[in-house]
Amino acid sequence: MAVQFAVLETVLIMSKKTVGADEQAKLLRAAKKVMKNAHAPYSKFRVGAAILLSNGKIFAGCNVENASYGMSNCAERTAIFSAVAQLGPRIEVRAVSVVNDHGVPCSPCGACRQVIYEFGPDATVFFQGTKGPTQAHITELLPEGFRLQ
Ligand code: THU
Repeated sequence: MAVQFAVLETVLIMSKKTVGADEQAKLLRAAKKVMKNAHAPYSKFRVGAAILLSNGKIFAGCNVENASYGMSNCAERTAIFSAVAQLGPRIEVRAVSVVNDHGVPCSPCGACRQVIYEFGPDATVFFQGTKGPTQAHITELLPEGFRLQ
């Protein structure tokens, strides 16, 4: 009986899909590494993002700016678009990690929150908040995210 409960507990814990400390550290490393590839000559603000998918794969992206400022792409969206380009649209984002080269608070912008929500309605986002390293569920960052019915 005790064994059955232990197995059930393990299954329940696994189905919650929490992000472990190892995975979190791996995501942070990937985000810091890709940040160096940023194209940010206008803002001089380099950002790196890494996403963890439910299949365990990690994808990374940096911000890519443009002389026509509005054409710039944030690190978070670069990472997600790269994963979709590689694997197709049936991906599930479990976690996102965001870093910047100024070490200042930087949570995903509104557009990125909506894109994270599209592929990760249950995603956890790790970022530098105003009170230090922060973790938030995507629906805390984006309540009532948009979905086409
Ligand atoms: N940026 C990101 O890449 N991700 C964020 O979470 C916030 C802002 C980029 C966009 C732009 O290239 C630069 O940072 C300054 O806004």
